[in-house]
Amino acid sequence: MADLDKPAVVIDQGASGIRAGRSQGGCESWHSVFQALGVGAEGRRLLICEPFGTSAHQRKERLELAFEEHRVSAVFMQLQPVLTLYALGLLTGLVLDCGEMGCRAAPVIDGYVLPHAFKSQAVGGRHVAARLLDLLRRRGYALSRDTSLAAVTAAKEKLCYLAVDREAEAKLARETTVGVTTYTLPDGHRLRLGAERFMAPEVLFDPQVMGLEAPGLAQLAHDAIQAADIDCRRALYQRMVLAGGGSLFPGCSARLAKDVRTLHASLAGVTSAEAGSKKMKINVDAVPRRKHLVFMGAAALADIMQDQGDAWVSAREWAEDPTRAAARCGSN
Ligand SMILES: Nc1ncnc2c1ncn2[C@@H]1O[C@H](COP(=O)(O)OP(=O)(O)OP(=O)(O)O)[C@@H](O)[C@H]1O
Ligand SMILES: [Mg+2]
Repeated sequence: MADLDKPAVVIDQGASGIRAGRSQGGCESWHSVFQALGVGAEGRRLLICEPFGTSAHQRKERLELAFEEHRVSAVFMQLQPVLTLYALGLLTGLVLDCGEMGCRAAPVIDGYVLPHAFKSQAVGGRHVAARLLDLLRRRGYALSRDTSLAAVTAAKEKLCYLAVDREAEAKLARETTVGVTTYTLPDGHRLRLGAERFMAPEVLFDPQVMGLEAPGLAQLAHDAIQAADIDCRRALYQRMVLAGGGSLFPGCSARLAKDVRTLHASLAGVTSAEAGSKKMKINVDAVPRRKHLVFMGAAALADIMQDQGDAWVSAREWAEDPTRAAARCGSN
């Protein structure tokens, strides 16, 4: 029996951990989530934040885990980009999620992701840390890959930034020491970081610097907008929303706006009316809590849906027909 009085538990699972309740990441499994929250799963409702592109098979596996291992009473799923917009009180926008293992550009119109225009790249925050480690090793620091990635990740989060103008930043780094700073690793090693601070995150916008074949964040955003129906493009250019921990580098929104503006202007010579307007307004929303937007949108939604019993897929429906239950949960 569902316990309708108790708030639903929200689960936002990413490659770097699970955000749930106040635990805000760090949990490795659903068991540890319920433990951290100090609540039993049995009889609870679960709101699962679903990555776009989840297959029917993956969805079924997740439901099996929820209903059969954790014995929750009901489940609701909503797509991460849609939840990101909910957190900001929006229904339309281009959601750019930079996670640990990749970046995704999801055009959302009136609360629905345009599936044909969704774009992604398998380059994310982990690659920035790997790039920083490589750059430091090339500078002569004796850092082994396994032991150092976590330590270098902390340095990345604290000191790295995105150059708004890469050439100008490189020139500044060659000619001055204004950007040079030191960082002490947990083992006492002291690192001197200069140009590495902006060269490492550059991989998000230019994956070629690591020999990776991927378009880069601005191109990804632009490709997604251009793949959307022509009537929607203006609204998407005007409301690009950054989300995910990998978007927290200072300079990220300014760089994105600048590069997308350049890409849009480059269309002008080639194509028609819509592209012809060099005056297209390009805006990037980058709220400070953007790492948690998915979770925040889901928590708000769980609240709103507290009394809407029929919208949730129940354990009984799952027991009767798992395939139908999974289909009712999914949005693709
Ligand atoms: N202040 C910061 N500056 C830069 N990067 C950061 C910062 N804080 C966290 N990150 C990075 O954000 C990434 C994790 O982001 P997020 O939690 O959105 O990913 P995830 O949802 O677990 O992964 P995915 O979406 O790929 O499954 C990590 O690479 C982490 O190092
Ligand atoms: Mg994520």
